[in-house]
Amino acid sequence: MVGYSAKDPARARHVAIIMDGNGRWAKKRGLPRSLGHQRGVEAVRRLVRGLKPMGLECLTLYAFSSENWKRSENEVDDLMNLMRKFIKSDLPEFVANDVRLKIIGDWQGLAPDIVAMLEDALAQTAKGKQTLAVALNYGSQQEIVRAVAKAAVLGEITTDSIAARLDTADLPPLDLLVRTSGEIRLSNFLLWQSAYAEMLFVDTLWPDFTPEMLQQALNDFAKRERRFGGR
Ligand code: FPP
Repeated sequence: MVGYSAKDPARARHVAIIMDGNGRWAKKRGLPRSLGHQRGVEAVRRLVRGLKPMGLECLTLYAFSSENWKRSENEVDDLMNLMRKFIKSDLPEFVANDVRLKIIGDWQGLAPDIVAMLEDALAQTAKGKQTLAVALNYGSQQEIVRAVAKAAVLGEITTDSIAARLDTADLPPLDLLVRTSGEIRLSNFLLWQSAYAEMLFVDTLWPDFTPEMLQQALNDFAKRERRFGGR
């Protein structure tokens, strides 16, 4: 299978999460959506702090999709401000905890101050051992089109040549994709990369998601039998 080289197939190397349900979490409590997103960032922080003992090589989080621009200007501003605050407050922890930040998606299209902050964060964390990949202004179909366009320039359109030009080319193969909040769809996230990934859909709203829940998902993953199309 393309790009797959399992060391220990029972151990997940790369998990991705569609963090869904911030709005519903807030609504249930009669709170503004912005507070749901704030609590969502706290859930991200808890997870990153709990990452080391899980032994994952990479955790990829869907933080802002190319379709999220359709939300109200206020909500988009809230999400961008949360991003600024999060990078500023948590970057020293990433460095101290050996976390390498990676951004996937068309992030150069974000506000110039965010792009500058991200470039600095990428440089400061470049030597980290565990990767936190954050999808920003990300759409999987767009990512595939960009990769195919690059492969086409070289006149070499194969699964390998396209995979090598995806934003995730330097990441381990995706083992497990989790979506919170009870929705069962991929919403233009890692479509190519999920070809052989296991899927887990949980009802928990994102602000309530804990590192223990991720650890449980990893334990369950270790028990699944993956055949990659074979018998
Ligand atoms: C989905 O909840 C969540 C998002 C669109 C954004 C996810 C963002 C965060 C968790 C915060 C920012 C992240 C970082 C890394 C700083 P929703 O608003 O679609 O919830 P709903 O479906 O219940 O309305």
